[in-house]
Amino acid sequence: MSEDAKPHLSVMLPEVLAALDAKSGDVIIDATFGAGGYTRAILATGAEVIGLDRDPTVQVHADAVKAQFGDRFQLIQTPFGDLAEAFAESGKARLDGAVFDIGVSSMQLDQAERGFSFMRDGPLDMRMADTGETAADIVNTWEHGPLAHIIKLYGEERQSGRIATAILRRRAEQPFTRTLDLADAIEKALGGRRGAPIHPATRTFQALRIAVNDELGELERGLEAAEQTLVDGGRLVVV
Ligand SMILES: C[S@@+](CC[C@H](N)C(=O)[O-])C[C@H]1O[C@@H](n2cnc3c(N)ncnc32)[C@H](O)[C@@H]1O
Repeated sequence: MSEDAKPHLSVMLPEVLAALDAKSGDVIIDATFGAGGYTRAILATGAEVIGLDRDPTVQVHADAVKAQFGDRFQLIQTPFGDLAEAFAESGKARLDGAVFDIGVSSMQLDQAERGFSFMRDGPLDMRMADTGETAADIVNTWEHGPLAHIIKLYGEERQSGRIATAILRRRAEQPFTRTLDLADAIEKALGGRRGAPIHPATRTFQALRIAVNDELGELERGLEAAEQTLVDGGRLVVV
């Protein structure tokens, strides 16, 4: 994907900048670099930015930021749960602020081959990084109990038991490999769309994405590490 394939809008950018209160010479961690929208705006204040992202495909955006801002910016490819280690690796002495813009990026959703979207046919992957268990691994191998549990807990899906049963039944005949296969199986299990405002697979896809990427564990580790690494009076902003 190229740097300018699609413009990316950063969520709540003015509010983030106001809360971070970055000044020339400050060191700020952008824990979810993405397309670099926050990072560019923070660099424009004269501060230095350490960008973190677990997704290797953001490198193209990091290269563009580096070309514009030079040594005041560096990208470290890592999950933000390892923020303390990444900060040590950066060689900086003090951390004045950190910002987390949680979740999946529109770029990740738009790329069918990443497997995040129930509206685009792609491999059932959903990994933000390129390591670990995929969504296909989960739906094809997990027992009914744990599968229903994450669909309920991370998807807030009331029909989690019925969906898990349908998944196990279908995979016994043919394992899942594609996003649309899974979306169709869920839709059938719930008796079609029946005028629902969202696709019947929405909550299950969200649950699988959170499980594949251990998003809640990451958030807990990342926030704890930020709190311990920031200087007294440092700013922590979470979107
Ligand atoms: C919503 S986007 C961030 C957009 C960014 N604020 C901007 O303005 O372009 C979220 C980004 O965080 C990354 N991400 C999500 N969870 C992560 C984690 N645990 N560690 C590192 N990066 C993560 C994703 O790969 C994605 O690129």
